Amino acid sequence: MSEVYDKPLDEISDADLNKLPGQPFRERLKDQVVDVGFSQFNDSHNKLMDLILDADVLFDLMLVTGNTAKYWGRLEEIVDDLVTYTKQHFAEEEEFLISRQHAKINEHTAQHSRLVEELNDFQKSVTSQNEDIIQMRKWLLEWLLVHVNTHDLSYKELAS
Ligand SMILES: [Fe+2]
Ligand SMILES: [Fe+2]
Repeated sequence: MSEVYDKPLDEISDADLNKLPGQPFRERLKDQVVDVGFSQFNDSHNKLMDLILDADVLFDLMLVTGNTAKYWGRLEEIVDDLVTYTKQHFAEEEEFLISRQHAKINEHTAQHSRLVEELNDFQKSVTSQNEDIIQMRKWLLEWLLVHVNTHDLSYKELAS
């Protein structure tokens, strides 16, 4: 097994990350976030995806090493940032959609509310160190892409 798995978390470098089996998958996922037509929101989506992929590295390490205890603390910190930044991003997006009187504002806002609830549940699972890691990982990797590539893409029409 690679020495990456024995290192303390703060000593894992980018070169180490590239040795992880999940890294090519993470790189591909990053490329799948669509352009929504507004640079400030594209930037937010990329930042959110970076946090998600940082968390995914920890799930990867948990699954490969079978040593979950080592990684929960760092995961909790990343998820705290993810929750805070997601709520901020959703508020900015909703303010923008209202100002531009976008036709799907109600549907979009309802979708944000649902995701915040799911994200809060996810955060609770991390805090309580829920061992259903595969399920947690799956949800984490899906929600942003599904939302951005459907609901957020619907406001790209405002950019033209
Ligand atoms: Fe959105
Ligand atoms: Fe968004």
